Amino acid sequence: MKSYIWSLPTRVFHWLFVVLILLAFLTDDDKLLNYHALIGYGILTLLIFRFFWGYLGPKYSKFKDFPMSMKDVKEFIVNIFNSKQKYIGHNPIASYVMIGIFIVVFLIIITGILTLGIQEGKGLLSSLNSSFFKEMELFEDIHEFLSGVLIALIAAHLLGILSDRVLHAKHETLNSIFSGYKVTKEDESIKLNIFQKLLAVLFLVIFIAFLIYNLTTPSNPLIASSYESVDYKKQNALFVKECGSCHTLYPPHTLPKKSWITLMSDLENHFGDDASLDEEDNINILDFLVKNSAETSTQEASVKILNSIKNKDIIAITHTNFWKNKHKNISKEIFEHADVKSKANCKACHSDIEKGLIEDDKIKNIRAYM
Ligand code: HEC
Ligand code: HEC
Repeated sequence: MKSYIWSLPTRVFHWLFVVLILLAFLTDDDKLLNYHALIGYGILTLLIFRFFWGYLGPKYSKFKDFPMSMKDVKEFIVNIFNSKQKYIGHNPIASYVMIGIFIVVFLIIITGILTLGIQEGKGLLSSLNSSFFKEMELFEDIHEFLSGVLIALIAAHLLGILSDRVLHAKHETLNSIFSGYKVTKEDESIKLNIFQKLLAVLFLVIFIAFLIYNLTTPSNPLIASSYESVDYKKQNALFVKECGSCHTLYPPHTLPKKSWITLMSDLENHFGDDASLDEEDNINILDFLVKNSAETSTQEASVKILNSIKNKDIIAITHTNFWKNKHKNISKEIFEHADVKSKANCKACHSDIEKGLIEDDKIKNIRAYM
């Protein structure tokens, strides 16, 4: 006999969850960070719905109907080869995987919002950037570790479905997430009450409104950056005139104090050019560079360049391992393109760098140079 087990809201939740998690993995790329973050918030709204549904929803979708006691687990394992199963909703192992997925996804989103705030100075927790920027990589590492755990849980989920199809094919479990129906001994069908229907519709409306809001308001508080652009002309016109004439105006916070001192002490032999200044101008510019060096910045690039240089005698950003690593997938041909010419020509790809910013969403699509 066929019983209706998974209501429409449960199935819609499942498939939206699948699609958004897939999109989250596909947008794991610096240039797509804003989309990645918005997808994360989208998944959070789905999880909040699922949380309410787990307490107020229909039978089998409720958390209390997940058979999770040790006794259930033991019984399930002992009878695993029995093609007739007594579980109408999730079986005990599947219940653990399901709850595991919900908890891990929730933690991924929380650490994602923390990373976005602390590392990028963006989004709801951007205010944490100034106090916790030194730990930026810790939060990113946790976020990535948990994503690995999620992949393992998803693999377990798929493996579970596969083995269920082999061992307990009669119940048509796989089919049930499309149609809602499973094969059971007696009629165990559920029916949504009016309150549950309203709850589901309400969340669907919120979810769609959220999507529309994000697509139409790209710089909303969920992802807005807390960094302000700098007008270097106003701050130090001499610096702009002398250091922005031959190449990109490298913001002072892209190199540590020590590098600026070394660089400014030998402008006659400056990367094969003579960029020498009279003493007064040199002191003026050096003072400005040192006052605003990487040590004074909480931006991701500054922290990472600083960590990459440490005590080494490096006076070029492009000589740091951090820079080399970030650009290792860009081919030589692109850097040699007529509109780029050099690795050091940052502004060909980072349109906001001369305003003191290196925002992920301002990175030019390098296909323009292919
Ligand atoms: C006469 C031209 C000229 C002037 C003026 C000049 N530079 Fe340069 N600079 C160069 C050249 C050429 C390079 C090497 C660029 C390359 O590798 O393509 C360079 C490279 C650099 C780099 C390394 C970039 C990297 O990461 O590879 C820094 C930092 C730098 N200059 C800072 C300054 C500062 C600060 C000033 C102002 C005091 C200045 N430059 C003025 C010509 C100049
Ligand atoms: C030919 C284009 C190109 C040039 C030139 C270039 N970059 Fe990049 N840069 C990129 C791309 C593309 C990425 C993103 C890589 C990725 O997907 O992770 C990137 C990433 C970065 C990042 C990391 C951003 C983040 O938030 O993770 C920093 C910092 C950076 N570049 C600084 C510089 C600086 C400084 C210069 C000049 C000295 C420079 N880049 C020159 C294309 C370029």
